[in-house]
Amino acid sequence: MEARERASAGPAPTRGFGPQAQGKDAQTVRSMFDRIAPTYDRLNHLLSAGIDRAWRVELARSLPDPCGRVLDLCAGTLDLAEAVANEHPGAEIVAADFSLEMLLRGRHKLPRVSLFVADAMALPFRDGSFDAVVCGFGVRNVADLEACFREVRRVLRPGGTFAILEFFRPRGALSRLFHRVYNQGVLPAVGAKVSGDDEAYQYLADSMERFHSLEEAAALMEACGYARVEGRNLVFGVASILKGVRA
Ligand SMILES: C[S@@+](CC[C@H](N)C(=O)[O-])C[C@H]1O[C@@H](n2cnc3c(N)ncnc32)[C@H](O)[C@@H]1O
Repeated sequence: MEARERASAGPAPTRGFGPQAQGKDAQTVRSMFDRIAPTYDRLNHLLSAGIDRAWRVELARSLPDPCGRVLDLCAGTLDLAEAVANEHPGAEIVAADFSLEMLLRGRHKLPRVSLFVADAMALPFRDGSFDAVVCGFGVRNVADLEACFREVRRVLRPGGTFAILEFFRPRGALSRLFHRVYNQGVLPAVGAKVSGDDEAYQYLADSMERFHSLEEAAALMEACGYARVEGRNLVFGVASILKGVRA
């Protein structure tokens, strides 16, 4: 089911990707997440038939153990932070997201975790203050991925791990077919019906088609000062894990 691959593409394009390519600025994206926060968890698990939980556990297990002080970036309703806490009970977890509503919806899952309303491109943390940064389904919403990768590098200690779980733009025939059917049919229709928000779920569906491929994102990570960059496809590339270490 999984194919481990060494990321080795050339320099990644940094323009024409992300929310701005869909005509959405950061404020618009944030207010969409604020709006869908009440139904976000229910829809996530429904739309993925629960597989999203297993993917987060997989990412959490891929972290060094013990994993020390961990930042969950674009933490949303704290599902990934919760998976890290379960897999690494000794970890000190901090969660950051620019949508207060998303954080508040997940607060009950980890009442002792420190929450920060913060932008992934300008984090309110000191240089080198985390042993690991994780990000689940967040980076494709960030306006400037390169700025985000550099900001995460800044807050990581040397040798610290950045681990991303994301729906990268698929390249294999099977994953492209799956993404097309899912993104043009299932996601916008079910998302709109359950959340009542057509715009947000159409944006989320389109954002996968307009995002970097795993190889492009890996190349960008290397260009931003990460070593041992490695991508791993989950379920034939439907989702992927991308990891690198602060050089
Ligand atoms: C699809 S949700 C993922 C939430 C969670 N990590 C998970 O695994 O379900 C994306 C999250 O990224 C946040 N986000 C998007 N762009 C951001 C940015 N520039 N800075 C901080 N958070 C951002 C959104 O508010 C949203 O909560």
